Amino acid sequence: MITILVATKNSHKLQEIQSILQGSVRWLSLRDFPEAPEIVEDAPTFQGNAAKKAATIAAFASGKFESVEDTYILADDSGLEVDALNGDPGVLSARFAHLDTNTFGNAPDAANNAKLLRLMRNFDPSERTARFCCVLALASCASSKNQRVTRKMEEPKILFFSGTCEGRILQSPQGSEGFGYDPLFVPEGYEQSFAQLGDSIKNRLSHRAKALHLLNAWLTKPHP
Ligand code: IMP
Repeated sequence: MITILVATKNSHKLQEIQSILQGSVRWLSLRDFPEAPEIVEDAPTFQGNAAKKAATIAAFASGKFESVEDTYILADDSGLEVDALNGDPGVLSARFAHLDTNTFGNAPDAANNAKLLRLMRNFDPSERTARFCCVLALASCASSKNQRVTRKMEEPKILFFSGTCEGRILQSPQGSEGFGYDPLFVPEGYEQSFAQLGDSIKNRLSHRAKALHLLNAWLTKPHP
């Protein structure tokens, strides 16, 4: 059985990841390691932030597991790109509302959503296109200790898996499931928001689901 330590404290993200990744996995998250270092997400790209999270937590975790073979760190960096806002909030999605007040850390979802609606109030439905993006970074604890890994991870020691989900931004929040910008985001081909469609549909279409399917293909392919 492999162990995956997901470098997040976000229980929604963790739930989505667990319900999409198949196979027998021992799951851990940063909720199991409250002493783990805080990661400042200051890279200009999703890939840069995902790599930083994976590498920092791999360094922290090496030495914590008896058997590091088949022990992985999985980091997700994700966010919303809105075309009318030139790709904002992008990598700053979690902190969007706090940028106005110079407040450190993530802002509440409701404040981020309110800011997005305010900035988009003059845009017509045809101008409200957007996409969710997700980059997963997978680091092996074994490779960080220079030991043999069962699933071979050559240089670079971090593997990336990406997914996007196209859609549009509503004029008011709809639905109560999910997290983040879900109440404002309608995926292409649908008329309801992710927060109305619920987990089973979101987990088939989402940016994170697409990236996780690529990761799953890597995990389940034979590694001689
Ligand atoms: P991260 O935890 O630094 O990757 O921040 C991701 C932020 O992007 C979250 O706090 C949400 O605001 C937004 N986001 C990412 N994925 C989703 C999603 O699946 N639904 C809604 N919002 C999301």
